[in-house]
Amino acid sequence: MRDRKGARKVVEVPSTGHSWDGIEEYDNPLPRWWLWTFYATIVWSVGYVIAYPAIPLVNGATRGVLGETMRSNVAAEIQRFNEANAPIRAKLVETPLDEIATDPELANFTTNAGGAIFRTWCAQCHGSGAGGAPGYPSLLDNDWLWGGTLEDIYMTVQHGIRDPKDGDTRYSEMPRFGTDEMLESEQIDQVVNYVLQISDQPHDADLAAEGAVVYADNCSACHAEDGTGDRMQGAPDLTDAISLYGTDPETITRIVRDGPFGVMPAWNARLSEADIRAVASYVHSLGGGE
Ligand code: HEC
Ligand code: HEC
Repeated sequence: MRDRKGARKVVEVPSTGHSWDGIEEYDNPLPRWWLWTFYATIVWSVGYVIAYPAIPLVNGATRGVLGETMRSNVAAEIQRFNEANAPIRAKLVETPLDEIATDPELANFTTNAGGAIFRTWCAQCHGSGAGGAPGYPSLLDNDWLWGGTLEDIYMTVQHGIRDPKDGDTRYSEMPRFGTDEMLESEQIDQVVNYVLQISDQPHDADLAAEGAVVYADNCSACHAEDGTGDRMQGAPDLTDAISLYGTDPETITRIVRDGPFGVMPAWNARLSEADIRAVASYVHSLGGGE
C-alpha cells in the first residue's frame, strides 16, 4: 500500500478469510469518496420518495408532495395549448369557407395546425409531402377525382370516399368487368389498348380501334365520351399523364378486370369541425386548390 505522498508503506491488512485457488481476499476499508457518495444517494432517495411519485400501489403510485407527474405535465400543457387556441378555432368554425384563406390570421393557423393534422392523420396514406402513392392520390397537383375547391375538399375529408360507416360518403363503383363476366378477356384487352391510346402510350392500333367501341358502350357513362372523367362520380381522367393506380398495361388490365374500390375514411367522427376545416384549407393551399 502507498501513503498520501506515494511512499510505499507496509500495512498489515487483515484477511477476510476467503481464499480461492490460493488467492486471498483482503478486508480493505471502502474508499472514503465512495462511501460518502453512497450515503448521499441514500439521503437523496429519501427526499425523492417524499417529493415525487415513487412507491407503486395497486392503482397507481404514491403522489409525492410536489404532485408532479409526467402525465399531469402533458395534460396541463395540452390544456394550455387548447385554451390559447380556443378563440382562433372558434373563429375558424364561424368563418365561411371561402373567406378563410383571405384572413391572414386564419390562413396562418390553418397552415400550421392543418399541416400538423395532415402529418398525423393523412400522411400514412397520402405521403408526408402529400405526393400520394399508387391507389392514394397526390394532393399536390390540380388533377382532382372529386373536385379541388375548398368546399369539395372539405366535403371529401368530412364524409370520406366509399366509407361504409358514413351515410353521406362520396360513392360510386366501377364495375368488375372481368370478375363479374361483363366483358370477355378479349374485349378487356381491346379496351385497355384504347385507354393506352387516349393517354398517348404505346398500344396496338387494331385492338384500340375495337376497344373504342367497347369503351363507348361500357365506360363512357363514367369516364366521359372523350375519356376526361367525371368528378360527380370520382371517375378519373384517363387521357392525362396523372394516374391513380398506374399507367402500365398490366395495372390497367387489373383495374378493368377486378374494379378499383378506393376507400378514404370519413373524418367527421374523429376530428373536430375546426380540425377538418384546418386540414382541408391546408390541402387546398398545397398547390392544386381551385
Ligand atoms: C387509409 C388511407 C387514407 C387516409 C388515412 C386518408 N386518405 Fe384521403 N384518400 C384515400 C384514398 C384511397 C383516396 C382516393 C379514393 C378514390 O379512389 O376515389 C383519397 C382521396 C382523398 C381526397 C380526394 C382527392 C381528389 O382527387 O378528389 C382528398 C382531398 C383527401 N383524400 C384528403 C385526405 C385528408 C385531408 C386526410 C387526413 C385527414 C386523408 N385524406 C386521409 C386514402 C386515405
Ligand atoms: C360506374 C362508373 C364507372 C364505369 C362504368 C367505369 N369506370 Fe373506370 N373508374 C371509375 C372510378 C370511380 C374509378 C376510380 C375510383 C376508385 O378508386 O374506385 C375508375 C378508375 C379507372 C381506372 C384507373 C385510373 C387511374 O387513374 O389509375 C381505369 C384505367 C378505368 N377506370 C378504366 C375504365 C374502363 C376501361 C371502363 C370500361 C370498361 C371503366 N373504367 C368503366 C368509374 C367507372
